[in-house]
Amino acid sequence: MSKILVTGGLGYIGSHTVVELQNSGYEVVIIDNLSNSSLEVIKGITNITNKKPLFEKLELRNKLEVESFFKKYQDISGIIHFAASKAVGESVENPLLYYENNLNTLIYLLQECKKNEINNFIFSSSCTVYGEPDSLPINESAPVKKATSPYGNTKQISEEIIQDTCSVTNLKSIALRYFNPIGAHDSTEIGELPLGVPQNLIPFITQTAVGLREELSVFGDDYSTPDGSCIRDYIHVVDLAKAHVVAMQRLLGNEGDSNFEVFNIGTGRGSSVLEVVKAFEKVTEQKLNYKIVDRRAGDVISVYADTKKANEVLGWKSEKSMEDSLLSSWRWEQKIRNLK
Ligand code: WQD
Repeated sequence: MSKILVTGGLGYIGSHTVVELQNSGYEVVIIDNLSNSSLEVIKGITNITNKKPLFEKLELRNKLEVESFFKKYQDISGIIHFAASKAVGESVENPLLYYENNLNTLIYLLQECKKNEINNFIFSSSCTVYGEPDSLPINESAPVKKATSPYGNTKQISEEIIQDTCSVTNLKSIALRYFNPIGAHDSTEIGELPLGVPQNLIPFITQTAVGLREELSVFGDDYSTPDGSCIRDYIHVVDLAKAHVVAMQRLLGNEGDSNFEVFNIGTGRGSSVLEVVKAFEKVTEQKLNYKIVDRRAGDVISVYADTKKANEVLGWKSEKSMEDSLLSSWRWEQKIRNLK
């Protein structure tokens, strides 16, 4: 049974991935600094899988702490690296914090990979690296465009750091470029726990429906899309989590075509903000208060994935529908507000 280190394993995508890894027979050790997560998540993971993952509270920005972790755990076969700051707006306000949090930590981890001969590394990347696409759906050979935020830039630079490392060490790595993750585990044991006012669409919708926010602002209805609102590829977090398991199997089995590979992880379907609002109203039978406001600075108009490479090479495909995703987000929101 291979032991996999999951950094940021108590976070939104991390926790769902730990569940899928444990359900596939992997032993998991989580490190997390609890800056945007809670120890309660361990209970949720344990309730779903009947297995408690190993956990170490650790600050990845502290090189000494990272070194002592790897001295203690000498049997790690692979790493899935989620731990990072991810608020786009905050990254514009405080770029140095983002470069420190997202790049120093990656470098420390890769140094330990080299030292300890851990050669299998999965990185959480983002469709944000594509910027505004020239054509849709977007595939992995599309150019990486200048990032519109320090957050996005950390994802681009991280991919480069990993690729450069792969070319001179034994490291093999897969960067998964996520589209927009949404939804929660069907058990409602784990889900997204946004701090403060949510910046992302779905938590804002569910918090509005539950009465925590007065109304949703739809950022623009005058884009060059069929209904004028922006288009994204919303993928269920459990489908996304499963992609990490197949990617890790590929690395552990030495099946890669090169030492550094990237895959789009999305559904291949584009949905507009207004379509999401309507689908939410339909599936939850809730009327949603919303108004159209000005465009939000920095939004791309339309992006959705070409998933051919992930389908054919990884043998992975998203399974859940938009309705499944929205319903699970809604059930999770009700559960955490003690309404169900
Ligand atoms: C989706 C759509 C908004 C909120 C960002 C990052 C990306 C990724 C996920 C991760 C857009 C519209 C939103 C609201 C709205 N990174 N919207 N009203 O911007 O596609 O991606 O988060 O951690 O790197 O850039 O996601 O959910 O913010 O927005 O109308 O209150 O919903 O304009 O069209 P985005 P999002």
